Amino acid sequence: MDIIKKLSLYKAIPIVTVTEQKTAQELFKYLKKNSLPVVEITLRDSRVKKALKNLDLDNILLGIGTIKNLSDIDTAIDAKANFGVSPGLNIELSEYAESKNFLLIPGVDTASEVMQALSYGHKLLKFFPAEYSGGIEKLKAFNSVFPEAKFIPTGGINLSNMKSYLELDNVVAVGSSALISINDFKENNLDLLNKNLETLKKI
Ligand code: 3PG
Repeated sequence: MDIIKKLSLYKAIPIVTVTEQKTAQELFKYLKKNSLPVVEITLRDSRVKKALKNLDLDNILLGIGTIKNLSDIDTAIDAKANFGVSPGLNIELSEYAESKNFLLIPGVDTASEVMQALSYGHKLLKFFPAEYSGGIEKLKAFNSVFPEAKFIPTGGINLSNMKSYLELDNVVAVGSSALISINDFKENNLDLLNKNLETLKKI
């Protein structure tokens, strides 16, 4: 199954910043146990890079987020990530990712950026920051002019507004940091996390 199909099956990508390898491995186990074997780990803390070294992915679909420069792409490739997510669009990043045969999902929030991204060869885009950039109405407008573009809306998306995004034809999955609180996870406060993942299954 290709990555887009898997993402559309999983519906949501939990976004977390994990600073210890042990936590990352435990999180993978937890996500698999809860039938959501996908996660985006953001490069938002200098400790993340070390945590990503020699991770055992074992059937986890791993995305690396907050990709802003070429060395972030190298970090994602070294971590054997399946895809990388960037908050924005940049020809240098697109060309580098392509040269490495690495799936980069660039961030866009205007029609011009969608056109640019398509011209760089991207078909799967992050719509960011979704809720503050026009939300579902903007995605509907994009669909009528760019039916070839598919989106992962991210930014302000939670379990209450997720369904309306997932119902759109041009949405593959959503990204959200509201699904998993890494602090709760580390402290083994799993009640809310379990509840969130149960709610997601019913969406
Ligand atoms: C990201 O990391 O892509 C976004 O900051 C996530 O947005 P959220 O925290 O509103 O889900």
